[in-house]
Amino acid sequence: MGPSPAGLGRATAFAPASVGNVAIGFDILGFAVDALGDRVTVARRAAPGVTISAITGTSTDLPLEPERNTAGRALLAMGASLALDFGLDMRIEKGIPLGSGLGGSAASAVGAVVAANALLAAPCSKLELLKFAMEGEAVASGSLHVDNIAPSLFGGLVLTVGIDHPRVKQIPVPPSVRAIITHPHMFLSTKQARAILRRSVDLSDFVWQTANLAGFISGCYTNDLDMIRASLEDVVIEPQRQALIPGFADVRRAALDAGALGCSISGAGPAMFAWALESRAEAVRAAMQGEFARHGVQIDDWIVEFASLGARVIGGE
Ligand code: HSE
Repeated sequence: MGPSPAGLGRATAFAPASVGNVAIGFDILGFAVDALGDRVTVARRAAPGVTISAITGTSTDLPLEPERNTAGRALLAMGASLALDFGLDMRIEKGIPLGSGLGGSAASAVGAVVAANALLAAPCSKLELLKFAMEGEAVASGSLHVDNIAPSLFGGLVLTVGIDHPRVKQIPVPPSVRAIITHPHMFLSTKQARAILRRSVDLSDFVWQTANLAGFISGCYTNDLDMIRASLEDVVIEPQRQALIPGFADVRRAALDAGALGCSISGAGPAMFAWALESRAEAVRAAMQGEFARHGVQIDDWIVEFASLGARVIGGE
């Protein structure tokens, strides 16, 4: 595929942060958080291949070699698959802190492929872009998982089934529900947070977690807040990871006491999220702030709706 007047010469995309797992959907469920995100600019260049000319913003200590960079690897996968006969240069402006559990590596990869797509005469579908971005995410976490990539790309609460042939489903969220996001100022490596996980699951925990995932999804489709409250609980991963987050049990308890529908780790952590009715969201936020403060942990926090459109082009020429 060669240069075409139909495609832009340069495009900038915004890709939102995301909460992976959503407690009960380890590696398969996530929701987009538009309050923060990465901006990626991709420009055509004559020489084939991918270059990264700058990384700015919240994390600048990231590899500029495309093979070692999540966004770079995603563009390499895209370029190879489409047999592009022009090159791509990329500038990444990080808005998502590294190692926060808010899908920063996924957002960079998603932003890269969405921006690059705007340069093509025959743009790819979002499902094709998802596969390219997945290649990038594998660099950061050491595994192919889609729970951050898919919501960052599509927006909203997203379930993804399958890896080689992923099927993506945007799940409706009751309009009265908000997410409260808290980000402790500390770094947690996704690779390490995955390495500590046991390889097997007790049969009773499997049954419980399966019921919770099914209950949660059905509660979302039927606007059943009682079902969401009963099922938004991770009995498999959270017990193994919670010790990595200072104050986790107290923060979670305080959120639930303040009326949260559920509260758990965002992705691999250390960020935490809660769901609550809009009328309880401020109280839940205050409760989580208070407990983190009591444990001497500084945080940023946001209350967000589920209105994200996912990654999009925000400029170009
Ligand atoms: N599902 C992944 C994990 C998300 O929990 O390891 C990483 O952001």
